[in-house]
Amino acid sequence: MKFDSARELAPAPESKSAATIKPQYELFINGKFEKPASKKYYHTINPATEERISSIAESNQADVDRAVKAARQAYEKTWKKMPGKERAKYIFRIARMVQERAREFSIVETLNGGKPIRESRDFDVPTAANHFFYYAGWADKLEYAFPNRQASPLGVAGQIIPWNFPLLMAAWKIAPALATGNTVVLKPAETTPLTALKLAEIIQEADLPPGVVNIITGAGATGAAIVNHPDVNKIAFTGSTDVGKIIQRAIAGTSKKATLELGGKAANIIFDDAPLDQAVEGVINGIFFNQGHVCCAGSRLYVQESVFDQVLRKLKDRMETLIVGDPMDKNTDIGAINSKAQLDTINKYLKIGLQEGADMYQSSCKLPGKGFFCRPTLFTNVAQSNRITQEEIFGPVLTIQTFRTDDEVIAKANNTPYGLSSGVWTDKGSKIFNLTTKLRSGVVWANTFNKFDPVSPFGGYKESGYGREGGLHGLYAYVNVK
Ligand code: NAI
Ligand code: MG
Repeated sequence: MKFDSARELAPAPESKSAATIKPQYELFINGKFEKPASKKYYHTINPATEERISSIAESNQADVDRAVKAARQAYEKTWKKMPGKERAKYIFRIARMVQERAREFSIVETLNGGKPIRESRDFDVPTAANHFFYYAGWADKLEYAFPNRQASPLGVAGQIIPWNFPLLMAAWKIAPALATGNTVVLKPAETTPLTALKLAEIIQEADLPPGVVNIITGAGATGAAIVNHPDVNKIAFTGSTDVGKIIQRAIAGTSKKATLELGGKAANIIFDDAPLDQAVEGVINGIFFNQGHVCCAGSRLYVQESVFDQVLRKLKDRMETLIVGDPMDKNTDIGAINSKAQLDTINKYLKIGLQEGADMYQSSCKLPGKGFFCRPTLFTNVAQSNRITQEEIFGPVLTIQTFRTDDEVIAKANNTPYGLSSGVWTDKGSKIFNLTTKLRSGVVWANTFNKFDPVSPFGGYKESGYGREGGLHGLYAYVNVK
């Protein structure tokens, strides 16, 4: 297939003016926006243009202390005593307000994080609202969630989230914590604080009792101060396996509970009996969705030998059609890499792949002159032992290997330190059952990929972490059960 400029689409930009971004944001503590004790601010930028968009407060130890204190007081005085059906009203209110301001949230998410507006609009924001709706529904039904047992909240939850799904991760963390009667201190990632701060505005408007949710900004040191705070009862973390290990060491020997959602290196497996066009579409979505900044991204493709040539050709053709560029354009498929640091990491791995002797293929698209961008990339001629097949790259980079038998591909797929997700493409139900029981990962998608629903639990095996978020399972992480 050949694609030429005839395919070029007219620009279809979303308007920035439908969202307001303040020049400076403070910390949301005890229901109010307060200046940081540190008196320090840093700039948050748009990774697609490298322009500054706002100044963000940097919390120090005193700020973390204030936030935890507010959360503790709110927990003791109001939230833990409030009947579930009253708590539910607040959570429903947040859900509806996120929906009402969906367009604004999508714009801000895309400006601050670099993801295509189509994804913010159609995935991140509606799924975030759905999580609030879903857990609001549980708040007054905990006796059915834990039949014949008594579930009580843990207390103050310290929640630290990453930059790949900023609003959605905030919803994943806050909604089940509130539904079960806990209070929250949440820290968004340093590169993507804006939608969490917008959520703070909603929480204020929704009139939640002050201190039930506190949202404080800052980098790793702020996160560490939350983890190490003696009055925090539970840590919920999503991010790198390295930081997950630091957290695990930090809380060892304390009574703190934790859920850790860490990295991944998911296998996506295509059998020769699969509907190949659909499978290729699923592979494209699996690795290029959100620039590949996805813990469950299908970053290792395994193709049955007899259809390898066909699949590779289809994949390359499809990659050529992907539109890389302005995240605010509604036609864009692949937006900006979230930060300079992440782009450097991805480029480092592209070099490693070449040094390891793999063959690299990139689509021929032009990249914008400014901002952080990476062409969709695939590597063939890779070995199971290569670093590019073993380590999480967290970018639009796919490795492809072949296999002959079920047992061989199961062994290869499981040969990884991670175990978050995997995908199977086949016409045969029996193969699906065989693989879903043998693949060591928290989620196995069959003839689809990257499907999320608040009802469905999500979480890892091995170095992908522990604990489940979403669904009924997601409640367990926030309660003591007697
Ligand atoms: P990170 O794990 O350092 O950052 C995630 C969150 O943890 C941020 O809010 C950060 O401020 C906070 N944090 C950093 N150090 C901390 C500490 N010592 N104690 C408590 N909180 C801390 O991830 P980073 O450095 O942004 O990305 C590095 C790699 O991690 C990526 O290339 C990717 O492979 C992986 N990653 C995986 C994610 C996932 O969803 N599983 C999300 C983000 C990154
Ligand atoms: Mg880090």
